[in-house]
Amino acid sequence: MTVNLVIGTQWGDEGKGKVVDYFSKDADYVVRFQGGNNAGHTIKVGDEVYKLHLIPSGVIQGKTGIIGNGVVIDPEVLIAEIDELKSRGIVPKLLISDRANIIMPYHKILDGAEENSLGDKKIGTTKRGIGPCYSDKIARKGIRAIDLTDKNTLSRRLDELIPQKQRILNLYKINEKLDKEEILETYSGFGNCLKKYIVPTHVEINKAISSGKHVLFEGAQGTMLDVDFGTYPYTTSSHTVAGGACIGAGIGPQHIDDIIGIVKAYTTRVGGGPLPTELLDKTGTHLQTKGGEFGATTGRPRRCGWLDLVVVNHSCKISGINKLAITKLDVLDGLKTVKICTKYKLKNKEIDYFPASIEDVENCKPVYKEFKGWNEISKKSNKLSDLPKEAREYLKFIEKELKIPISIVSIGPGRKETIDV
Ligand code: GDP
Ligand code: IMO
Ligand code: MG
Repeated sequence: MTVNLVIGTQWGDEGKGKVVDYFSKDADYVVRFQGGNNAGHTIKVGDEVYKLHLIPSGVIQGKTGIIGNGVVIDPEVLIAEIDELKSRGIVPKLLISDRANIIMPYHKILDGAEENSLGDKKIGTTKRGIGPCYSDKIARKGIRAIDLTDKNTLSRRLDELIPQKQRILNLYKINEKLDKEEILETYSGFGNCLKKYIVPTHVEINKAISSGKHVLFEGAQGTMLDVDFGTYPYTTSSHTVAGGACIGAGIGPQHIDDIIGIVKAYTTRVGGGPLPTELLDKTGTHLQTKGGEFGATTGRPRRCGWLDLVVVNHSCKISGINKLAITKLDVLDGLKTVKICTKYKLKNKEIDYFPASIEDVENCKPVYKEFKGWNEISKKSNKLSDLPKEAREYLKFIEKELKIPISIVSIGPGRKETIDV
């Protein structure tokens, strides 16, 4: 029995799609447990590139994908994603939790309205309705996957909810009339389409675990976007940390064997909020161009900076990470020097923890250790010993600082461009 968990340790886009695809070769089930189609996970197989938003990355390897109860689902997006995969010759094996909350049209409208009302303090959300849907879930005003499969239940829920939502839209002065009958027809249609996948997935997952199957959990976003441990309020609305998998899939923590933290060899972030190691100079632009740092969901440019080990250490502690996967090491090729932030300077004091106050984070000045750069990582070898000496030193420093072993190093987007340490 092996139950592993892969999560992002930074602000998302660490390469979870690539790493999950790589580990999926040994998996029976791959499970998403939080987030929604704010995620964009890229998998490159030969010349084919897949960008998945809701369907777990393991389906590309032919494994069963499970969308757990902690995910928020936009059914229209999910159906389009299934159809797109089918058109490319992949019929995804899929299970959807009956308890997962559904993103409704008013969630998407409200996401935009709330962002507009924040002016220059806006979060920079993906405007996919994620925050408003999670808010409704916690406020017990959500619609769940199971509700879509019964038109009478859905009709009753909409009778309760639509007038409330209409009042909120009116408060925001949004000229939009929510048409209950139209929403009912559309969403029960989605329910009919998805009915065959909707099951109590927590039962399936626990059965799989006790029968010795290999289950791989695929995190979305990253620790610094976690609603408790990230740069709040500049975060997403779910638990992106390892603990989120237990709640978002319905398993006990004792079942998890390895918790693999993905660390991009530098740092990126999309949207607003502080980024202590951000580079606003030509090195930042260089990383953005060379790393292709443009959002897989919204296409927005990602802000770039040096690797921040205060951030990664914070993530490792919160999630109990016991293995590291370093990605995009090749993007640092050709730089004369590379830097790693090991501490922050805040009000003339050195600190090694990530502060809770957003004002403190904004005032943190990174303290760097500088490394000699390297020319080019050869894509022809996937042996650690064939990496340039300077690149090995860079990796060794990360391991030593975090006291966690590196289990894989990714040196390109493709499946084969992976060093299994
Ligand atoms: P995710 O959200 O964590 O799955 O990451 P994204 O897919 O949003 O962004 C990662 C991007 O980097 C994608 O375009 C990947 O194809 C690419 N990528 C992943 N690993 C590597 C790597 O080791 N080197 C390079 N050059 N690109 C990589
Ligand atoms: P993956 O899984 C990077 C960011 C948004 C915004 C904040 C809140 O591909 O790593 P939301 O729409 O969730 O309310 O937006 O979170 N964000 C991501 N950034 N990668 C992601 O997912 C993200 N999902 C959300 O840019 O700053
Ligand atoms: Mg992404």
